[in-house]
Amino acid sequence: MINETAIRDILSSINYPGFSRDIVSFGLIKSISIAGIDITVKLELATRDPEIAQQIHADVEGALSSIDGVGKVSLDFDIKDPPEGNDGSGSVNRSSIPGIAKVIAIASGKGGVGKSTVAANLAVALSRQEGSPRVGLCDCDLYGPSIALMFGREDARPMATEQNEIIPIEAHGIKLMSMGFLLDDQSPVIVRGPLATRYTQQFLRGCSWGELDYLVIDLPPGTGDIQLTVVQTVAVDGVIVVTTPQEMALIDARKAASMFAKVNVPILGVIENMSSFLCPSDGIHYAIFGEGGGQKEALRLGVPLLGQIPIEMDTRKAGDAGIPVALGDSETARAFLHIAEKLAEPIITPSA
Ligand SMILES: Nc1ncnc2c1ncn2[C@@H]1O[C@H](COP(=O)(O)OP(=O)(O)O)[C@@H](O)[C@H]1O
Ligand SMILES: [Mg+2]
Repeated sequence: MINETAIRDILSSINYPGFSRDIVSFGLIKSISIAGIDITVKLELATRDPEIAQQIHADVEGALSSIDGVGKVSLDFDIKDPPEGNDGSGSVNRSSIPGIAKVIAIASGKGGVGKSTVAANLAVALSRQEGSPRVGLCDCDLYGPSIALMFGREDARPMATEQNEIIPIEAHGIKLMSMGFLLDDQSPVIVRGPLATRYTQQFLRGCSWGELDYLVIDLPPGTGDIQLTVVQTVAVDGVIVVTTPQEMALIDARKAASMFAKVNVPILGVIENMSSFLCPSDGIHYAIFGEGGGQKEALRLGVPLLGQIPIEMDTRKAGDAGIPVALGDSETARAFLHIAEKLAEPIITPSA
């Protein structure tokens, strides 16, 4: 028996290409009509990338035509305009948030690889470049926000403008937005699906960021709905993939990288974190997790290895104390400053 519910069930087993979120829960299905044994599905897409449409077309057609008794399966794509800049060609690098020059997202496949540490320190390092660029840092890890803590402002509560825009909290010269500012205690955040999408959109578009040279976005780990919401809400100029040298982390990093490639967001490079243990007593680097992983991964992805950050007690302590290590002039601080220097150069989109 062919009915809409059964069809929706089947469609919800199909993921958006490269993502772990299915096309139904993401709201791509606009309508399903059944005429006798024929099915017509209307979908809405926010990308001009023909490959995405082709992939979804093939998956939907394949799944529906394998149902017993189904005749013709037709798909009707409605292409919505993607955020300005993400036109699907991957060649335009312009932020669609007025006043923000460059948007850089920090991603990783796995949690705990130091994505937030990298995001916080890169934001600081960027602001220390020539001409003192203005930098914002948006913590889109709604489930595990850590930016408020890393900047020592867990107790800060943002105000709103008369236009009802959230005013970011400032610390160490960086404008910050994080779920950590909206939570009253350490309770876990229970925001799923549509609510997570709305928070993400509000953090990015409903904040009075003002004029910024850079907006750094700290993403949650993995390839879920928040990542997709981010790239559909704002034209991201590029993504930095953070990984540790271990093989397991590399496999996850690869998944994350291929997800962004699918939505035509250029990968700017790889940062290998915890690349070696910097021993405080002798200043020697010990390659606890192995060597060369980040470099190998960068080569494989055809992107530069932007830098290697050692594992160091001071980096963690600085994070916990709310004073990012990149504010100082240690070896690790210099590593972050060096990466920021590279990012200050014009973003070159790697040719596909
Ligand atoms: N290079 C490093 N040296 C020492 N500790 C680090 C380093 N990078 C991250 N950490 C610590 O590891 C933990 C996880 O890092 P975090 O940045 O929160 O990871 P993620 O955002 O990827 O989950 C934190 O306690 C952080 O202080
Ligand atoms: Mg984090």
